[in-house]
Amino acid sequence: MNHLKALILIGGFGTRLRPLSCTRPKALFPIINKPLLQWTFEKLAENGVDEVILAVNKLTQFHIRQNRLPRCGLKVRFSIDPPKMPLGTAGPIKKAQKLLGKEPFLVLNGDLITEIDYKALYKSHKEGKALATIALHEEKDPSRYGVAELVEGDKIKRFVEKPPKGTEPSNLINAGVYVLSPKIFDFIPTGRAVSMEREIFPKLVENNSLFGYKVEGLWIDIGKPEEYLETNRLLLEAYNGKPPKRGGFECKKPFVLGKGVSIGENSIIGPYVVLGKNVTIGKNVHIRDSVVFSYAKIDDDADICGSLIGEAARVGKKVKLTKGCIVADNAKIKDEALISEKIQVCPAKEIG
Ligand code: GDD
Ligand code: MG
Repeated sequence: MNHLKALILIGGFGTRLRPLSCTRPKALFPIINKPLLQWTFEKLAENGVDEVILAVNKLTQFHIRQNRLPRCGLKVRFSIDPPKMPLGTAGPIKKAQKLLGKEPFLVLNGDLITEIDYKALYKSHKEGKALATIALHEEKDPSRYGVAELVEGDKIKRFVEKPPKGTEPSNLINAGVYVLSPKIFDFIPTGRAVSMEREIFPKLVENNSLFGYKVEGLWIDIGKPEEYLETNRLLLEAYNGKPPKRGGFECKKPFVLGKGVSIGENSIIGPYVVLGKNVTIGKNVHIRDSVVFSYAKIDDDADICGSLIGEAARVGKKVKLTKGCIVADNAKIKDEALISEKIQVCPAKEIG
């Protein structure tokens, strides 16, 4: 394969990950302390991709530039949705037509962690007559995704985006990774938002040119808080951290601790915990099944389970956070505050 390009769609608003996505795009959410986009760059570079086009909005572009991610040898360019006009999942592809050129290219939803073999997917596309080849992954509950019905081996005879539960034509979901041939540009209108899944794929089905390629292994969309937590959980098993040398507290596997973390006496961290860099944990704190972003501070006797704690957030003494709580960046929960389940605290807000 020579000169393979990939377009990554990362201009969505991450609404299902609010309030943590109020202050960062989904693509920069840390997955065991590494931004998701960096995981994606590494995977693409390993698969022989040499150029990446980031389909963003202005704000996402700003955040990505600020972040200075290692580019893993990839040439990286931005293609920006017009101000106040998000282009959906197909519009940005049309907009990037000139950058994408005249060879088939990869398209990825930017909110995925996957083990998909992009090279094999690309090869399968090149060998067939498809205009689009979609990676298809088997899911128990396909209703939250795009669902494909296959016929004659790998041809797709129906594609339904987010079908109501019970009406799904199969368990094979659109894994959010495609190879497209340049002829696809003729199918995408310009100047407005266009949905790949709701408009273009059904058109390709009519045209007999939509094909599927089944993939196995790790695949997860981080788009909802419980999925984000699950992604960290799955990767923690593979990348478990080392217990710190200084004692007085306990770390239960699996866990990962960022640089400069400090943990007070008698605290128990884990299982399934990620602490970002420079997180400060007080004495007698219990944290399980949670992700704590960089620079957060958790005070003495706090008890945190199944929760997400944003960057530089502060959780006061004796606060108990149970399953599904999200504390956004710079928010503060005051000492001894009584918190109900699944509470969400906006960025920089103080409660308690
Ligand atoms: N540039 C740009 N502009 N990107 C966008 C826009 C936009 O207007 N809208 C969404 N995106 C990006 C998002 O940032 C995300 O990375 C990707 O497009 C997909 O959008 P999501 O909002 O995450 O879609 P979804 O998860 O509900 O469904 C999609 O992904 C599923 C797999 O995870 C669909 O492609 C489904 O068919 C698929 O099964
Ligand atoms: Mg998604």
